[in-house]
Amino acid sequence: MRVLGIETSCDETGVAVYDTEVGIVAEALYSQIDIHAVYGGVVPELASRDHVRKTLPLINEVLNTAGLSPKDLDGVAYTAGPGLIGALMVGALVGRSIAEALGVPALGVHHMEGHLLAPMLSESAPQLPFVALLVSGGHTQLIEVQALGDYRLLGESVDDAAGEAFDKVAKMLYLDYPGGPHVARIAEQGDPSRFNFPRPMVAKPGLDFSFSGLKTYTLTTLQSLGGIDNLSEQDKCDIARAFEDAVVDTLIIKCRRALEQTGLHTLVMAGGVSANKRLRSALGPALAAVGAQVYYPEPKYCTDNGAMIAYAGACRLAAGQSDEAMMNLRPRWPLNELQAI
Ligand code: KG4
Ligand code: ZN
Repeated sequence: MRVLGIETSCDETGVAVYDTEVGIVAEALYSQIDIHAVYGGVVPELASRDHVRKTLPLINEVLNTAGLSPKDLDGVAYTAGPGLIGALMVGALVGRSIAEALGVPALGVHHMEGHLLAPMLSESAPQLPFVALLVSGGHTQLIEVQALGDYRLLGESVDDAAGEAFDKVAKMLYLDYPGGPHVARIAEQGDPSRFNFPRPMVAKPGLDFSFSGLKTYTLTTLQSLGGIDNLSEQDKCDIARAFEDAVVDTLIIKCRRALEQTGLHTLVMAGGVSANKRLRSALGPALAAVGAQVYYPEPKYCTDNGAMIAYAGACRLAAGQSDEAMMNLRPRWPLNELQAI
Protein backbone atom coordinates (compact mmCIF):
# COMPACT_ATOMS: atom_id res chain seq x y z
CA MET A 1 0.00 0.00 0.00
CA ARG A 2 1.36 3.45 -0.96
CA VAL A 3 0.30 6.38 1.18
CA LEU A 4 0.82 10.07 0.53
CA GLY A 5 1.43 11.95 3.80
CA ILE A 6 0.93 15.70 4.20
CA GLU A 7 2.03 17.71 7.24
CA THR A 8 0.92 21.35 7.56
CA SER A 9 0.16 21.77 11.28
CA CYS A 10 2.54 24.65 11.96
CA ASP A 11 5.49 26.18 10.11
CA GLU A 12 6.74 23.29 7.99
CA THR A 13 5.17 21.91 4.83
CA GLY A 14 6.15 18.24 4.75
CA VAL A 15 5.18 15.68 2.11
CA ALA A 16 6.23 12.02 1.72
CA VAL A 17 5.14 8.73 0.21
CA TYR A 18 5.36 5.64 2.43
CA ASP A 19 5.13 2.20 0.84
CA THR A 20 4.25 -0.57 3.32
CA GLU A 21 6.53 -2.94 1.34
CA VAL A 22 9.63 -0.73 1.03
CA GLY A 23 9.35 2.19 3.48
CA ILE A 24 9.68 5.89 2.63
CA VAL A 25 10.11 6.18 -1.15
CA ALA A 26 10.34 9.97 -1.45
CA GLU A 27 9.97 13.02 0.78
CA ALA A 28 10.23 16.80 0.66
CA LEU A 29 10.16 19.47 3.31
CA TYR A 30 9.84 23.22 3.17
CA SER A 31 10.50 25.19 6.34
CA GLN A 32 8.87 28.61 6.83
CA ILE A 33 11.41 29.63 9.48
CA ASP A 34 12.68 32.61 7.46
CA ILE A 35 9.13 33.96 7.07
CA HIS A 36 8.41 33.88 10.82
CA ALA A 37 11.90 34.61 12.22
CA VAL A 38 11.49 38.38 11.78
CA TYR A 39 8.40 38.26 14.06
CA GLY A 40 10.12 36.09 16.68
CA GLY A 41 7.46 33.35 16.40
CA VAL A 42 4.92 31.74 14.08
CA VAL A 43 2.34 34.10 12.55
CA PRO A 44 -0.64 31.78 11.89
CA GLU A 45 -2.07 33.62 8.87
CA LEU A 46 1.33 33.77 7.15
CA ALA A 47 1.77 30.05 7.87
CA SER A 48 -1.55 29.14 6.22
CA ARG A 49 -0.85 31.26 3.16
CA ASP A 50 2.56 29.72 2.67
CA HIS A 51 1.20 26.18 3.01
CA VAL A 52 -1.21 27.12 0.17
CA ARG A 53 1.79 28.06 -1.98
CA LYS A 54 3.94 25.04 -1.15
CA THR A 55 1.74 21.97 -0.63
CA LEU A 56 0.89 21.09 -4.27
CA PRO A 57 4.38 21.80 -5.68
CA LEU A 58 5.90 19.61 -2.94
CA ILE A 59 3.44 16.79 -3.73
CA ASN A 60 4.43 16.99 -7.42
CA GLU A 61 8.10 16.99 -6.46
CA VAL A 62 7.70 13.91 -4.26
CA LEU A 63 5.73 11.96 -6.88
CA ASN A 64 8.30 12.86 -9.56
CA THR A 65 11.22 11.82 -7.36
CA ALA A 66 9.49 8.52 -6.60
CA GLY A 67 8.65 7.99 -10.27
CA LEU A 68 4.99 7.64 -9.30
CA SER A 69 1.80 9.01 -10.79
CA PRO A 70 -1.13 9.99 -8.52
CA LYS A 71 -2.90 6.81 -9.64
CA ASP A 72 -0.20 4.76 -7.88
CA LEU A 73 -1.42 6.04 -4.50
CA ASP A 74 -3.67 3.83 -2.36
CA GLY A 75 -4.48 6.37 0.34
CA VAL A 76 -3.82 9.89 1.61
CA ALA A 77 -2.97 10.89 5.18
CA TYR A 78 -2.89 14.48 6.41
CA THR A 79 -2.34 16.04 9.83
CA ALA A 80 -5.76 16.72 11.37
CA GLY A 81 -4.43 18.18 14.67
CA PRO A 82 -3.22 19.38 17.07
CA GLY A 83 -1.99 22.54 15.36
CA LEU A 84 -2.99 25.88 13.87
CA ILE A 85 -6.48 25.57 12.41
CA GLY A 86 -5.80 27.57 9.22
CA ALA A 87 -2.61 25.63 8.56
CA LEU A 88 -4.32 22.27 9.21
CA MET A 89 -7.11 23.20 6.80
CA VAL A 90 -4.69 23.59 3.90
CA GLY A 91 -3.19 20.08 4.17
CA ALA A 92 -6.59 18.54 4.92
CA LEU A 93 -8.31 20.18 1.95
CA VAL A 94 -5.53 19.29 -0.47
CA GLY A 95 -5.23 15.74 0.88
CA ARG A 96 -8.94 15.03 0.91
CA SER A 97 -9.40 16.49 -2.59
CA ILE A 98 -6.66 14.26 -3.99
CA ALA A 99 -8.13 11.20 -2.25
CA GLU A 100 -11.62 12.04 -3.52
CA ALA A 101 -10.38 12.52 -7.10
CA LEU A 102 -8.49 9.21 -7.00
CA GLY A 103 -11.25 7.32 -5.22
CA VAL A 104 -8.90 6.23 -2.40
CA PRO A 105 -9.42 6.58 1.38
CA ALA A 106 -8.27 9.67 3.29
CA LEU A 107 -7.31 9.79 6.94
CA GLY A 108 -6.62 12.61 9.41
CA VAL A 109 -3.53 11.80 11.49
CA HIS A 110 -2.75 13.00 15.02
CA HIS A 111 0.47 15.04 14.76
CA MET A 112 1.86 13.65 18.04
CA GLU A 113 1.16 10.07 16.96
CA GLY A 114 3.25 10.94 13.91
CA HIS A 115 6.12 12.08 16.17
CA LEU A 116 5.68 9.07 18.46
CA LEU A 117 5.92 6.60 15.57
CA ALA A 118 8.81 8.38 13.79
CA PRO A 119 11.45 6.09 15.44
CA MET A 120 9.72 3.19 13.63
CA LEU A 121 11.18 4.58 10.40
CA SER A 122 14.72 3.79 11.61
CA GLU A 123 16.53 0.58 10.71
CA SER A 124 16.64 -0.48 14.36
CA ALA A 125 13.03 0.24 15.31
CA PRO A 126 11.85 -0.22 18.92
CA GLN A 127 9.65 -3.16 19.92
CA LEU A 128 6.36 -2.61 21.72
CA PRO A 129 5.51 -1.99 24.52
CA PHE A 130 7.44 1.16 25.39
CA VAL A 131 7.26 4.50 27.16
CA ALA A 132 7.34 7.49 24.82
CA LEU A 133 8.72 10.89 25.78
CA LEU A 134 7.20 13.44 23.41
CA VAL A 135 9.08 16.72 23.58
CA SER A 136 8.13 19.36 21.04
CA GLY A 137 7.30 23.04 20.84
CA GLY A 138 3.73 22.42 22.04
CA HIS A 139 3.95 19.22 24.10
CA THR A 140 5.98 17.54 26.84
CA GLN A 141 4.36 14.22 27.61
CA LEU A 142 5.20 10.75 28.87
CA ILE A 143 2.98 8.10 27.29
CA GLU A 144 2.72 4.38 27.92
CA VAL A 145 2.35 2.61 24.59
CA GLN A 146 1.16 -0.99 24.96
CA ALA A 147 0.10 -1.28 21.30
CA LEU A 148 -0.12 1.00 18.28
CA GLY A 149 -2.91 3.46 18.95
CA ASP A 150 -3.19 2.48 22.63
CA TYR A 151 -1.80 5.51 24.41
CA ARG A 152 -1.99 6.13 28.18
CA LEU A 153 -0.89 9.54 29.39
CA LEU A 154 1.50 9.13 32.34
CA GLY A 155 2.38 12.79 32.80
CA GLU A 156 2.72 16.08 30.98
CA SER A 157 3.78 19.67 31.40
CA VAL A 158 1.42 21.68 33.54
CA ASP A 159 2.60 24.88 31.83
CA ASP A 160 5.21 25.47 29.09
CA ALA A 161 6.39 22.64 26.86
CA ALA A 162 10.15 21.98 26.88
CA GLY A 163 10.56 23.34 23.33
CA GLU A 164 8.52 26.42 24.22
CA ALA A 165 10.83 27.05 27.21
CA PHE A 166 13.87 26.73 24.90
CA ASP A 167 12.23 29.21 22.50
CA LYS A 168 11.45 31.71 25.30
CA VAL A 169 14.96 31.50 26.77
CA ALA A 170 16.33 32.06 23.27
CA LYS A 171 14.24 35.25 23.02
CA MET A 172 15.64 36.46 26.38
CA LEU A 173 19.14 35.90 25.01
CA TYR A 174 18.29 37.71 21.73
CA LEU A 175 18.71 34.51 19.74
CA ASP A 176 16.73 33.69 16.59
CA TYR A 177 13.50 31.71 16.34
CA PRO A 178 13.10 28.76 16.72
CA GLY A 179 15.35 29.03 19.70
CA GLY A 180 16.10 25.42 20.68
CA PRO A 181 18.94 24.80 18.23
CA HIS A 182 20.45 28.28 18.95
CA VAL A 183 20.39 27.82 22.75
CA ALA A 184 21.96 24.38 22.23
CA ARG A 185 24.64 25.87 19.94
CA ILE A 186 25.82 28.55 22.39
CA ALA A 187 25.50 26.14 25.34
CA GLU A 188 28.40 24.22 23.75
CA GLN A 189 30.71 27.05 24.86
CA GLY A 190 29.07 27.37 28.29
CA ASP A 191 30.74 26.54 31.59
CA PRO A 192 28.56 23.87 33.27
CA SER A 193 29.92 24.66 36.75
CA ARG A 194 29.09 28.37 36.81
CA PHE A 195 25.33 28.19 37.57
CA ASN A 196 23.16 25.47 39.02
CA PHE A 197 19.56 25.91 37.85
CA PRO A 198 16.71 24.07 39.61
CA ARG A 199 15.34 20.78 38.27
CA PRO A 200 11.59 21.54 38.44
CA MET A 201 9.17 19.10 40.06
CA VAL A 202 11.69 16.31 40.58
CA ALA A 203 11.24 16.33 44.36
CA LYS A 204 7.48 15.81 43.96
CA PRO A 205 6.20 12.33 43.15
CA GLY A 206 4.52 11.85 39.78
CA LEU A 207 5.39 12.31 36.16
CA ASP A 208 4.24 15.85 35.39
CA PHE A 209 6.62 18.57 34.26
CA SER A 210 6.75 22.33 34.73
CA PHE A 211 9.16 24.53 32.78
CA SER A 212 7.68 27.94 33.42
CA GLY A 213 9.57 28.46 36.73
CA LEU A 214 12.84 27.46 35.09
CA LYS A 215 12.24 30.11 32.45
CA THR A 216 11.65 32.71 35.19
CA TYR A 217 14.79 31.52 37.02
CA THR A 218 16.73 32.05 33.79
CA LEU A 219 15.35 35.59 33.48
CA THR A 220 16.19 36.37 37.12
CA THR A 221 19.76 35.12 36.64
CA LEU A 222 20.11 37.27 33.55
CA GLN A 223 18.79 40.33 35.42
CA SER A 224 21.10 39.69 38.39
CA LEU A 225 24.01 40.12 35.95
CA GLY A 226 22.73 43.55 34.93
CA GLY A 227 20.28 42.56 32.16
CA ILE A 228 20.77 41.27 28.64
CA ASP A 229 22.59 44.37 27.37
CA ASN A 230 25.29 43.96 30.01
CA LEU A 231 25.94 40.28 29.38
CA SER A 232 29.18 39.14 27.81
CA GLU A 233 29.03 36.42 25.16
CA GLN A 234 30.43 34.03 27.78
CA ASP A 235 27.64 34.96 30.25
CA LYS A 236 25.06 34.07 27.60
CA CYS A 237 26.74 30.75 26.85
CA ASP A 238 26.94 29.90 30.57
CA ILE A 239 23.25 30.71 31.08
CA ALA A 240 22.26 28.67 28.02
CA ARG A 241 24.32 25.74 29.33
CA ALA A 242 22.77 25.91 32.82
CA PHE A 243 19.27 26.04 31.32
CA GLU A 244 19.92 23.16 28.91
CA ASP A 245 21.46 21.01 31.65
CA ALA A 246 18.43 21.62 33.89
CA VAL A 247 15.97 20.62 31.13
CA VAL A 248 17.99 17.54 30.15
CA ASP A 249 18.38 16.37 33.76
CA THR A 250 14.70 16.89 34.51
CA LEU A 251 13.61 14.93 31.43
CA ILE A 252 15.99 12.10 32.30
CA ILE A 253 14.81 11.87 35.92
CA LYS A 254 11.16 11.67 34.80
CA CYS A 255 11.92 9.12 32.07
CA ARG A 256 13.61 6.82 34.58
CA ARG A 257 10.69 7.24 36.93
CA ALA A 258 8.19 6.43 34.13
CA LEU A 259 10.08 3.23 33.25
CA GLU A 260 10.21 2.22 36.89
CA GLN A 261 6.49 2.92 37.35
CA THR A 262 5.40 0.95 34.27
CA GLY A 263 7.98 -1.84 34.60
CA LEU A 264 8.97 -1.27 30.95
CA HIS A 265 12.55 -1.25 29.64
CA THR A 266 12.25 0.65 26.38
CA LEU A 267 11.96 4.39 25.97
CA VAL A 268 11.18 6.16 22.72
CA MET A 269 11.94 9.87 22.53
CA ALA A 270 10.47 12.01 19.76
CA GLY A 271 9.51 15.57 18.82
CA GLY A 272 11.64 18.62 18.02
CA VAL A 273 13.55 18.70 21.33
CA SER A 274 14.67 15.09 20.77
CA ALA A 275 17.07 16.59 18.21
CA ASN A 276 18.99 18.08 21.15
CA LYS A 277 22.46 16.56 21.14
CA ARG A 278 23.10 16.82 24.88
CA LEU A 279 19.78 15.14 25.63
CA ARG A 280 20.49 12.38 23.09
CA SER A 281 23.96 11.71 24.45
CA ALA A 282 22.93 11.79 28.14
CA LEU A 283 19.71 9.77 27.95
CA GLY A 284 21.26 6.55 26.58
CA PRO A 285 23.83 6.02 29.38
CA ALA A 286 21.36 7.19 32.07
CA LEU A 287 18.82 4.57 30.97
CA ALA A 288 21.42 1.87 30.35
CA ALA A 289 22.33 2.24 34.04
CA VAL A 290 18.81 1.01 34.91
CA GLY A 291 18.79 -1.71 32.23
CA ALA A 292 16.68 0.22 29.74
CA GLN A 293 17.26 1.20 26.14
CA VAL A 294 16.37 4.40 24.32
CA TYR A 295 15.34 4.87 20.68
CA TYR A 296 15.01 8.15 18.84
CA PRO A 297 14.10 9.13 15.31
CA GLU A 298 16.78 10.00 12.78
CA PRO A 299 17.57 13.72 13.25
CA LYS A 300 15.56 14.68 10.11
CA TYR A 301 12.46 13.00 11.60
CA CYS A 302 12.73 14.71 15.02
CA THR A 303 11.18 17.99 13.90
CA ASP A 304 8.01 18.20 11.79
CA ASN A 305 8.05 16.24 8.53
CA GLY A 306 5.75 14.48 6.07
CA ALA A 307 7.29 11.02 6.50
CA MET A 308 5.94 10.54 10.04
CA ILE A 309 2.42 11.45 8.87
CA ALA A 310 2.65 9.11 5.86
CA TYR A 311 3.84 6.30 8.18
CA ALA A 312 1.23 6.83 10.93
CA GLY A 313 -1.46 7.16 8.23
CA ALA A 314 -0.29 3.96 6.52
CA CYS A 315 -0.52 2.00 9.80
CA ARG A 316 -4.14 3.05 10.22
CA LEU A 317 -5.19 2.87 6.55
CA ALA A 318 -3.62 -0.60 6.21
CA ALA A 319 -5.73 -1.66 9.21
CA GLY A 320 -8.84 -0.53 7.31
CA GLN A 321 -9.40 2.77 9.09
CA SER A 322 -10.34 5.93 7.19
CA ASP A 323 -12.32 9.09 7.80
CA GLU A 324 -15.91 9.94 7.08
CA ALA A 325 -16.66 12.25 4.17
CA MET A 326 -16.72 15.13 6.69
CA MET A 327 -13.44 16.86 7.54
CA ASN A 328 -12.84 16.81 11.30
CA LEU A 329 -9.91 19.01 12.33
CA ARG A 330 -8.84 19.18 15.98
CA PRO A 331 -6.58 22.13 16.94
CA ARG A 332 -6.59 20.55 20.44
CA TRP A 333 -6.73 16.78 20.50
CA PRO A 334 -5.71 14.55 23.44
CA LEU A 335 -3.68 11.59 22.17
CA ASN A 336 -5.55 9.10 24.36
CA GLU A 337 -8.78 9.78 22.43
CA LEU A 338 -7.37 7.91 19.44
CA GLN A 339 -8.87 4.64 18.30
CA ALA A 340 -6.58 1.59 18.69
CA ILE A 341 -5.08 0.35 15.43
O1 KG4 B 1 8.26 18.89 16.83
P1 KG4 B 1 8.54 20.28 16.39
O2 KG4 B 1 9.28 20.48 15.10
O3 KG4 B 1 7.23 21.11 16.27
C1 KG4 B 1 6.16 20.98 17.14
O4 KG4 B 1 5.36 20.02 16.94
O5 KG4 B 1 6.15 21.78 18.11
O6 KG4 B 1 9.34 20.96 17.61
C2 KG4 B 1 9.80 22.26 17.53
C3 KG4 B 1 10.47 22.60 18.85
C4 KG4 B 1 10.86 24.07 18.96
O7 KG4 B 1 10.44 24.55 20.22
C5 KG4 B 1 12.37 24.05 18.85
O8 KG4 B 1 13.00 25.11 19.52
C6 KG4 B 1 12.70 22.71 19.48
O9 KG4 B 1 11.68 21.84 19.02
N1 KG4 B 1 14.01 22.20 19.06
C7 KG4 B 1 15.07 22.04 19.90
C8 KG4 B 1 16.14 21.58 19.09
N2 KG4 B 1 15.71 21.49 17.80
C9 KG4 B 1 14.40 21.87 17.80
N3 KG4 B 1 15.18 22.22 21.22
C10 KG4 B 1 16.38 21.98 21.79
N4 KG4 B 1 17.47 21.57 21.09
C11 KG4 B 1 17.40 21.36 19.76
N5 KG4 B 1 18.49 20.95 19.08
ZN1 ZN C 1 5.71 18.60 15.79
